[in-house]
Amino acid sequence: MAPLAEFFAELAGLLADAENVFAAATDATALEAARIEFLGAKSGRLKDAQKGLGQVAKEDKPGAGKRFNEVKQALDTAFAAAQERIADSGAAATGPTGAAPADLTLPGKRVRLGHLHPITQTIDDLKEIMGRLGFTAAGGPEIEDEWHNFQALNIPAAHPARDPLENFYLATAEVVTGDLSKGANRNLHGPAGGALLLRSQTSTVQIRVMEKTRPPVRIISLGRVYRPDTADATHYPMFHQIEGLLIDRHVTMADLKSVLRLFARSYFGGDVHIRFRPSFFPFTEPSVEVDMAWNDNWIEMGGAGMVDPNVLASVGYDPDEVSGFAFGLGVERVCARRHNVTDIREFYKNDVRFLEQF
Ligand code: DAH
Repeated sequence: MAPLAEFFAELAGLLADAENVFAAATDATALEAARIEFLGAKSGRLKDAQKGLGQVAKEDKPGAGKRFNEVKQALDTAFAAAQERIADSGAAATGPTGAAPADLTLPGKRVRLGHLHPITQTIDDLKEIMGRLGFTAAGGPEIEDEWHNFQALNIPAAHPARDPLENFYLATAEVVTGDLSKGANRNLHGPAGGALLLRSQTSTVQIRVMEKTRPPVRIISLGRVYRPDTADATHYPMFHQIEGLLIDRHVTMADLKSVLRLFARSYFGGDVHIRFRPSFFPFTEPSVEVDMAWNDNWIEMGGAGMVDPNVLASVGYDPDEVSGFAFGLGVERVCARRHNVTDIREFYKNDVRFLEQF
């Protein structure tokens, strides 16, 4: 056979075979094998056939080349058609990930959105309410020195509130003076020379703010406090307080009561009553316990009073010039009361069934 006839015959056979094989492929793997067999760049049959082009007579070359290109195009077309056919049938039988096809009539999955912890929500609410009454939020460190946690708040060194059993003192700031092997002193020292502890009350922030500002002062502070209490329905070794402080000229107990009542009515809504019971705190004089009630059901929310002149003096204020009130309430308590939570430990169990109710 003349080289040209032989070349044409090979191309014809190749095209017929390829069209059959491509058409017969039922999945992507089979089609890929067929593609390599016929269109493979290294040793596919089309590549082989191309060598025959070199054998044909010079004058036959244009016709042979044209025919070769036609066959190549026909092969590409047959391959593309097979590819499309397999992709279509695949999409019908399985989803895009190869899983069973989606049944678009099924109800959708509900996306579960998280939300803020109830205590965080309460803190935000309280800031909002007190903000409307003109109180700015202030903060302070949770690791405190004895000056801010006790001394400046008129709690002297021998006071039982400073007992190591009532507080979380830190041992991290141990300063050794002298040679330990010779029985030197081991003392805990904070920056101001006193021991460091996890703050037991947010009243510390009163001092921190007053040290840096001149009167008038109108702040609240919300944050964590720590006490070595055994956890039960109303106690936890860590809890949150909201502290309020107002210092100005001619501040009275009546102002304190008005602010607390406005606050309680805003937070709880409706007809909340406030009751003061005489009490004692070193940093206020007089001091009161604050109770709040609905339907004659009184609950103790915290303490309050008129800022003791010693406290004003400790931050360099003149007690004859200015006076003020302060209060400290338990955030868990107000939150639990509003939502009828009977055990504050629930707030810290991280049980989603509890938390998602808020
Ligand atoms: N710091 C007190 C406590 O933790 C609560 C308190 C009482 C705060 C009276 C005050 C106050 O500001 O005036 O028990």
